[in-house]
Amino acid sequence: MGQIKFITDFDDQFYYNKKVFVRVDFNVKVQDNVVSEDYRIRSAVPTIEYLVKRGAKVILGTHLDRPKGKDYRFSLRPVSKKLAEILTAFDARVTFSEDCIGSETNKMVNNMKNGEVLLLENLRFYPEEEINDENFSAALSSYADVYINDAFSTSHRKHSSTYGVAKFFDYRIAGFNLAQELQYLSLLRERPANPFTLVIGGVKIKDKIGALDHLLPKADKVLIGGAASYTFLKAKGYSVGESIIEEDYLPWVTKALQAHREKIILPIDHKVAPSEKSDHYQIIQTDIPKGMRGYDIGDKTIQKFSYEIHNNGLGTIFWNGPMGYFEKEIFSNGTKSVAVSMALAYWRGVKTLIGGGDTLEAMKVSGVSEKEVTHVSTGGGATLRFLAGDEMPGIDVLKNY
Ligand code: 3PG
Repeated sequence: MGQIKFITDFDDQFYYNKKVFVRVDFNVKVQDNVVSEDYRIRSAVPTIEYLVKRGAKVILGTHLDRPKGKDYRFSLRPVSKKLAEILTAFDARVTFSEDCIGSETNKMVNNMKNGEVLLLENLRFYPEEEINDENFSAALSSYADVYINDAFSTSHRKHSSTYGVAKFFDYRIAGFNLAQELQYLSLLRERPANPFTLVIGGVKIKDKIGALDHLLPKADKVLIGGAASYTFLKAKGYSVGESIIEEDYLPWVTKALQAHREKIILPIDHKVAPSEKSDHYQIIQTDIPKGMRGYDIGDKTIQKFSYEIHNNGLGTIFWNGPMGYFEKEIFSNGTKSVAVSMALAYWRGVKTLIGGGDTLEAMKVSGVSEKEVTHVSTGGGATLRFLAGDEMPGIDVLKNY
């Protein structure tokens, strides 16, 4: 296997007058035809700008959500508007192709001038994309001379646009977003600066097991909140009432608790209510009674977690998953406090990293900006898979020259 080539490994002239297919991940939140969260779009801008300024013709391909066939509720048109708005900063002309393959798209590609950007319609409008169909890959590859992957967050998928298409190119290159993700997440996975604190929340332990297996031995402290904590508390023999439990993972959790007992810190109090619709909560210490479900960590736990985050010295903190049902104001305190503690740690010089889809939103709800974090990963599933050391077809294919 060869080395990955990065976008800056080629001289400026290399991109001039070349058609470059860039796989981006513009799978963003769209509400009423307007992009409501654009972090992933902004993360691809350095690569687009670099290519535009060097006179390339930039063809962007992405998926949006998981449509079954051509379902225009998942059209990328609103995304193209947002992109055009962002790219006005350096005068790049953005056009949108109503399809991602076919004669019209071909025509648009052939009419492109140097420095222009063309966004293709949702690649997942064709089922061929997800089954890595050879002909579909060939059709996409016919547009360009160079392939760039700038979509870390979808590099765990072995799809046409992330994998199959790359094999048709002599030049397959990593863009700035992919390079940055690899730099920070490799450090986190291989040699995080100690003290190393893990802050884990969210619902599904199942999705995090691989990453936790890899990171728990390296961590000095592991703070577990959110729905994930109830499976841990149950494994320790506490009553958790109606809180969400992942029964199938109790054996794994029991083992993790045995192996890392001194580092794992669980909530000592909870905000509980009969249902998420409740407008009131009770604070419960230790056992949660029947008929009640935990929706947030309590104030004593907030104090404890904040103390542990402040006590990290000058090490590393990785946060994945909210501390509770933060979408509802009365259950958002735990998540907000962790976000603020993370920002304070960043300003003190700690390397702070966050990953996993909901975590970025949780941070924003808390009024903490991305600029107050060392690295915000664009990935959800991809970040956890990478941290687990799993295969990443979209990255591996860049090495196979
Ligand atoms: C994500 O949102 O994690 C990526 O865009 C991948 O999306 P997928 O899980 O639908 O493949």
